[in-house]
Amino acid sequence: MRVAVAGATGNIGARTVTHLEKAGHEAVGISRSLGVDLVTGDGLEAALRGVDAVVDTISSPPVSREETVDYFGTTTRNLLDAEASVGVGHHVLLSIVGIDRVEGNAHYAGKREQERLVSQGRVPWTIVPATQFFDFAELAAGWAEKDGVSHIAPLLMQPIAPDDIAAILAEIAVGEPQGRYADVAGPETQDLIDMARRTNAARGRDVRLVPTWAAMFDESMAGNVMLAGDNVRIAPTTFEHWLATSGQ
Ligand SMILES: NC(=O)c1ccc[n+]([C@@H]2O[C@H](COP(=O)([O-])OP(=O)(O)OC[C@H]3O[C@@H](n4cnc5c(N)ncnc54)[C@H](OP(=O)(O)O)[C@@H]3O)[C@@H](O)[C@H]2O)c1
Repeated sequence: MRVAVAGATGNIGARTVTHLEKAGHEAVGISRSLGVDLVTGDGLEAALRGVDAVVDTISSPPVSREETVDYFGTTTRNLLDAEASVGVGHHVLLSIVGIDRVEGNAHYAGKREQERLVSQGRVPWTIVPATQFFDFAELAAGWAEKDGVSHIAPLLMQPIAPDDIAAILAEIAVGEPQGRYADVAGPETQDLIDMARRTNAARGRDVRLVPTWAAMFDESMAGNVMLAGDNVRIAPTTFEHWLATSGQ
């Protein structure tokens, strides 16, 4: 099959391309650095010619809630319109577990807008809600780091290896549209601060981590809010294994 991956140069998109090609499919990369901009639509119809399915793994820049909703709304509309006009038969969206349970997060508001447009759109679809990726702790603690100190929340999550979610997206893209897919999560629950501490130790980084609900993540994300529901597909890779084998 011929499958286009939007966000093909990103963390999950690049791995999805690798898994599609490993399974013998043809992958078409979509990203601004590859000459296709989903905000303007430049290059989009040409990229989608002859494509059977599209996987959307793009992210938005860290902007306000309104701008994030607008970014994900515009890119999703452009992608779906172009898919409908060239006859793409399956749109797969990478989403996030728990976004309906957290009102105040700008990124989640944008992801809800993506889900709304995809589920009400004309192109047959599968929405794949994933938990946080194993490198989320490093990212979040890094965003908050100042002078060797990082204030982060002790979020409870059930994170997944980037390569595992990419393999699942590649598998789903070449199958029939399934509507809302099961939540996809890793094998164990983790605490974000513990993950950040272990990641920093593995990378040889000395950062003081201060637990708080008053910085980037607030109490609306506490408790079981970010955990997968009962209908869940568990991916195999453990955080321990990923830490031991991922790049330094
Ligand atoms: N981080 C987590 O723990 C987590 C958990 C679950 C789900 N997710 C979701 O996973 C998705 C992917 O995350 P990621 O970390 O893989 O993102 P990433 O590494 O930041 O990659 C984003 C990709 O999108 C492309 N892109 C951005 N704007 C574009 C545009 N206007 N037109 C075309 N391409 C564009 C970028 O390429 P160019 O810059 O070249 O355009 C890049 O290839 C996000 O939607 C996020 O919500 C994340």
